[in-house]
Amino acid sequence: LDRPKLVVANRKMHGNLPDNRQFMQSLLQQTQQHSARYAICPPHPYLYQAQQLLQNSHIAWGGQNMSRFEHGAYTGSVSPLMLKEFGCTYVIIGHSERRQRGHENDETCGERFEAALKAGLTPILCIGETLEEYERGETDLVVVRQLNPVIAHVGIQALSQGVIAYEPVWAIGTGKAATPQHAQAILSFIRGHIGLLNEQVSEKIGLLYGGSVNPGNAAQLLGMPDVDGGLIGGASLVTEDFIRICQIAN
Ligand code: G3H
Repeated sequence: LDRPKLVVANRKMHGNLPDNRQFMQSLLQQTQQHSARYAICPPHPYLYQAQQLLQNSHIAWGGQNMSRFEHGAYTGSVSPLMLKEFGCTYVIIGHSERRQRGHENDETCGERFEAALKAGLTPILCIGETLEEYERGETDLVVVRQLNPVIAHVGIQALSQGVIAYEPVWAIGTGKAATPQHAQAILSFIRGHIGLLNEQVSEKIGLLYGGSVNPGNAAQLLGMPDVDGGLIGGASLVTEDFIRICQIAN
């Protein structure tokens, strides 16, 4: 298994020009010789700043969301072509904070995933169960329900051009990360589910864990065999914490 580790900062609706600059410059300086991969997803207005600071470096950047359409009368939306024009490598799709507010669902995530690939972006598809679903023991059902429409939409081969992030909703921003055993069990289940359709894709595809990853739990979580990296929210807002997680991933 030589899947590279990937650590993605989802900065959500945080940051400003000077804070972003400090974060990106510190990360650039302190991870220069690393072999792990890193990406920063700032709010859309700061993608131009990310492009200016990170272009030709080892750090990629991406959007936190994207329209499934290339252009049109969609006030407030951002096109995949626009993300690409500002040098994005990645785009987050189906984050639970957007699913919960009705902006995205299993079906439109398939369309977004496809649109991202068409634009030359790498989609990071977020899936994961709510606390109620977890307590009812439905985690496996939920991740399959979220994954299948995307597979049906793009086909199993194309799936491996993206990344899947398992983020249990109950672990996001709560300080209560999943145990390494739970993260491993679900990511292994997801890999197995993909493997039923295509073994090579299942071995190749990058699977991330997200939800209250911090410098204290990152080593155990990222050390699990099916955890290929992390999607980091809160800890990406503290530069030293995020760099520490990168050092652990490396
Ligand atoms: O996309 C990131 C996740 O929502 C995790 O956020 O690290 O603040 O729990 P968190």
